[in-house]
Amino acid sequence: MAYTVPKLTDYSAAALEKAASACADACASEMGTIRTDADLKTFRDRWLARKNGILTQINDLWLKSAPKAERPVVGQKVNWLKKHVEGLVEVAGNRLLLQRAPATQYRTVVSLDFGGPVDITLPGARRPIGAEHPVIRTMHEIVSVFQKLGYSVAEGPVVETDYYNFEALNFPPDHPARDTQDTLFIAGQESKPQRERLLLRTHTSPVQIRTMEKMRPPIRIVIPGTVHRNDPPDASHSPMFHQIEGLAVDTNITFGDLKGTLDHAMKALFGSNVKTHFRPSFFPFTEPSAELYVTCFICGGSGKRGADACRPCKQTGWIEVLGCGMVDPNVFEFVKDNGYDPKKVSGFAFGMGVDRLALLKYGVDDLQYFFQGDVRFLEQFG
Ligand code: DAH
Repeated sequence: MAYTVPKLTDYSAAALEKAASACADACASEMGTIRTDADLKTFRDRWLARKNGILTQINDLWLKSAPKAERPVVGQKVNWLKKHVEGLVEVAGNRLLLQRAPATQYRTVVSLDFGGPVDITLPGARRPIGAEHPVIRTMHEIVSVFQKLGYSVAEGPVVETDYYNFEALNFPPDHPARDTQDTLFIAGQESKPQRERLLLRTHTSPVQIRTMEKMRPPIRIVIPGTVHRNDPPDASHSPMFHQIEGLAVDTNITFGDLKGTLDHAMKALFGSNVKTHFRPSFFPFTEPSAELYVTCFICGGSGKRGADACRPCKQTGWIEVLGCGMVDPNVFEFVKDNGYDPKKVSGFAFGMGVDRLALLKYGVDDLQYFFQGDVRFLEQFG
């Protein structure tokens, strides 16, 4: 029997609910019989026609004839029913469209009970796809240059002991070289022996020792990671930043290998026409030590940008990229038992700051942008 709108005499919540759901059920079951566009039109007219459609009748028979006091409650129910029926009519139209669509276009027809009609043809909620952070992207680029040379990746803890961060890297206790590292110490460690006290690693170099304890020579590793120093944040400093460390140990590794490897890596990173330049330096864990400079990839080494001075290289035409050197025999002494006899093996190491390179590469003028998490900044790298 086709549904007809009953008159209401009882306006209690229970009676309203019963009448409304009988109507909704009728609409849903009629919807199930639609096969053609003509069926759809008949269905839509029967339920939605302004003149004498079922919803219009309900408006007249239920709402308008209800006693004044009951109208708000009846109104609510009628509104719900209206939305529900309109939803079903829309779904009915979409179903017909779907039936006609090629199978490959809509492969899955989802049927979930959301307590009302669901238009499965609406686009789903889109979640923005994230992008690699510029610092991480730079890190990956550097790491992949070394991976192609046969290096593998090692990692270590950010909260480190005094032993790995300093002592085993040939910074003896109380040695002034420790002052160069502006260390953030973990509080409450005084009762421990000094070498066990915890701190935030100031460089990725401790992972050299940790890896040599675990792996016998020969090794070739790069170590990306975050490091911390007691530096107040400004346009070129941050208490947290990123480094990539490198270590190669084998028999007969020479300073020539160090130069050749780093020269190749700089050309792979900054372009084949950059020149490299090594200047003597000091690090407790390498001897001899050097700083590596590359020709400024902003001004091409001229120190000028048009008529202006080139700022990134301070007009020198050279940019310092890393510290490096031949592993100090004193460092090997700490891992001698694992095959690192300084009389038998030699090696080179290097360490570079990633954030500054990312600044230069992407022409960003304030380091803080990297760490504020402002989506408007980060989106530009998507
Ligand atoms: N760890 C040093 C620093 O953060 C950088 C460095 C210099 C690392 C020379 C090395 C190296 O491996 O050989 O200041």
